[in-house]
Amino acid sequence: MHVPPPDAPILFFDSGLGGLTILEPTRALLPTAPVVYAADYAGLPYGQKSEAELAARVPALLGRLVERYRPRLAVIACNTASTIALAHVRAALDLPIVGTVPAIKPAALLTRSGVIGVLGTRATVRQPYVDDLSARFAAGQTVLRHGSPELVAAAEAKLHGAPVDPAVIARAIAGLREQPGGDAMDVIVLACTHFPLLADELAQAAGPGVRLIDGAGGIARRIAHLTEGQDWPAAASMGTAVFTRSDDHPPPPVSALARFGLGRIDLV
Ligand code: DGL
Repeated sequence: MHVPPPDAPILFFDSGLGGLTILEPTRALLPTAPVVYAADYAGLPYGQKSEAELAARVPALLGRLVERYRPRLAVIACNTASTIALAHVRAALDLPIVGTVPAIKPAALLTRSGVIGVLGTRATVRQPYVDDLSARFAAGQTVLRHGSPELVAAAEAKLHGAPVDPAVIARAIAGLREQPGGDAMDVIVLACTHFPLLADELAQAAGPGVRLIDGAGGIARRIAHLTEGQDWPAAASMGTAVFTRSDDHPPPPVSALARFGLGRIDLV
């Protein structure tokens, strides 16, 4: 078996800053793990792209990043990219790949009313992958879905220092609650890695009877499990954030990334 050197990083990949919500619990479990966080700002938002576009773009870009940073493992910290391109990425790359899929299974165990909301991007909520998860884990329950591109934009803006518009949050919750059965919804799956960045705002809008869940903790444990027994540096170091160049989306200031343990920015 290939033994990675201690300085081989874990590569996190998302269209933008949402994957930081996966990075955070991973750093808590593996505090000295070297990290490269990649955001495809040139492709943001993924939720508005076609399946064919993402199935081609994500493996190609990840391939370039793997060549450049030589990670020991890559995490597709994005539900949209994972539900569409995970199999393509695994077929194309020869390293362990961890994906992010909507946390419907734990939601089905948590709901009392049997009505679950799934809040994701438009691309994620239309995926057969979500049908499969619902059929396997939430049979007999009602799974409502809503795609909200404006929540992705709001989460990005928040990390760039902008205030969050409460109307955007209210519309996202209403998009679920106003569907048939929505009154009884008591669990919402945050099926886009950007959305936990707005967890406080969403929880307040959803009200006290609704629990929000996401898969971040489980993914962090999966990463720890897959790298068990491997060598790590003795001390923690600041990681690298890498952005694909985009005129529409300049990277945030490096100071905004410091709390996620990222200390420098590369552009590719
Ligand atoms: N963070 C992404 C996800 O988990 C996608 C956001 C976007 O680019 O639309 O689905």
